[in-house]
Amino acid sequence: MLKPNFKEAKKRTKEDIKVLREEYVVPESVKEIGKGKKYFIKTYGCQMNEHDSEMISAILEDMKYTKTDTYEDADLIILNTCAIRENAHNKTFGMLGRIKHLKQTKPELMVALAGCMSQEESVVDEIISKYKWMDFVFGTHNIHKLPEILEEHLNTKKLEVNVWSNEGNVIEGIPAKRDSSIKAWVNIMYGCDKFCTYCIVPYTRGKQRSRMPEDIISEVKDLISKGYKEVTLLGQNVNAYGKDFKNKDYKMENLLEDVAKTGIERVRFVTSHPWDFTDNMIDIIAKYDNICNYIHLPVQSGSSRILKLMGRRYTKESYLELYKKIRNKLGENASITTDIIVGFPGETKEDFSDTLALAEECKYDSAFTFIYSPRQGTPAASMEDNVSLDEKNERLYKLNDVINKYAKEANDKLVGKVVKVLLESVSEKDSSMLAGYTDTMKLVNVKADKKYIGKIVNVKILEAKTWSLDGEIDE
Ligand code: SAH
Ligand code: SF4
Ligand code: F3S
Repeated sequence: MLKPNFKEAKKRTKEDIKVLREEYVVPESVKEIGKGKKYFIKTYGCQMNEHDSEMISAILEDMKYTKTDTYEDADLIILNTCAIRENAHNKTFGMLGRIKHLKQTKPELMVALAGCMSQEESVVDEIISKYKWMDFVFGTHNIHKLPEILEEHLNTKKLEVNVWSNEGNVIEGIPAKRDSSIKAWVNIMYGCDKFCTYCIVPYTRGKQRSRMPEDIISEVKDLISKGYKEVTLLGQNVNAYGKDFKNKDYKMENLLEDVAKTGIERVRFVTSHPWDFTDNMIDIIAKYDNICNYIHLPVQSGSSRILKLMGRRYTKESYLELYKKIRNKLGENASITTDIIVGFPGETKEDFSDTLALAEECKYDSAFTFIYSPRQGTPAASMEDNVSLDEKNERLYKLNDVINKYAKEANDKLVGKVVKVLLESVSEKDSSMLAGYTDTMKLVNVKADKKYIGKIVNVKILEAKTWSLDGEIDE
């Protein structure tokens, strides 16, 4: 049994990050273990988890499992979890409750926990004491070891816990079974060293480790050869890409330029921490047409006092300066979105009005807004929190009103205009329509024939809603 350990997870040594290329192996004894069996993966959390689930799928299919979308039909259920807020945590435990019932009627069913919650000591302790019926637990650092962990569990028939709390390496050569054949996630870095005081990610994902540029570029080229139209470069803090290289000076601006030069039709990247956003990066985004004019720039709070307590390393003023620089360079048509937390410990009415004022000033295209959720083991969890939940809810409503107003306004501006949309799928709201995104990440529903799926088309916008647009093909 290898349990997670927060003290270890927090450590950042000067040790070199290794790129390991031969770590993923499927032992002979489990190569056919999934024959005639089905797997189901439930994914919570961010895009990194979505991409990890694509890897878990490919690994399971290497062992001959086939996918099912209904967990009741599965022989193996994997919950790929998120630890960012209490409600993500609660959702997983709710799902485990339902699965427990299923396991009672289907004792051969295997159930596993993966992802960021597996990296939490308190969660794994709870699993060991109250969820002994589960089969195995693995973490974010050892996805590639899944076949061996499964093999071990089959040998012992006991709950197998195998979670690493090391700083982490870069593991190349893990296969991925991508959910889409049109757009793809591409990891460019793992982990995070920012240690914002409220955030669990640096503990669950380890030290910042950038992938080698040549590995990223060859993945993008391979995706182009398979017909992919769009890549999203992924990391918790992509602007810090390359800062961990000891022997070369190669940063996010270099990578963005090299990815743009591959000729892929669209390049996106998330998430940008304001701290590492350089002028050169903005220039590169402006220079290449295939780098999308869409910047997700989480601000978290509009109060410099709270930003300091959050450990964000910028002030309201320096954020606004960066925001304006990006707007001026990319133009009014660029889209900028953000993340905001309300009710951080000690947030006063004045702090919150600073946040509202900032939202009014930035007029974001959209935003994810959250009520602060204390995460065990982070510095903010031991700060005094004297704002009531009612007050926090009220602040969230007020903030959402402002966010929604400007989201609608940004969409209204597009009515009558012709925009380029990458059509991806049949629309969820109307099966006679297709859905896709503009390069500025606006969801557009379009009356169009299915033959347009996978194509970038000109669409005339007919109607704007708060969170989507309706349009028709403009030929
Ligand atoms: N790396 C990104 C954020 C990743 S987490 C960045 O630094 O910008 C996504 C969002 O979840 C964060 O931007 C933050 O707004 C929110 N979040 C993180 N920890 C949280 C917590 N403890 N409570 C509430 N929201 C949180
Ligand atoms: Fe969390 Fe901050 Fe890292 Fe983002 S930059 S993942 S908020 S610690
Ligand atoms: Fe959640 Fe882990 Fe992502 S905590 S937001 S799944 S990095």
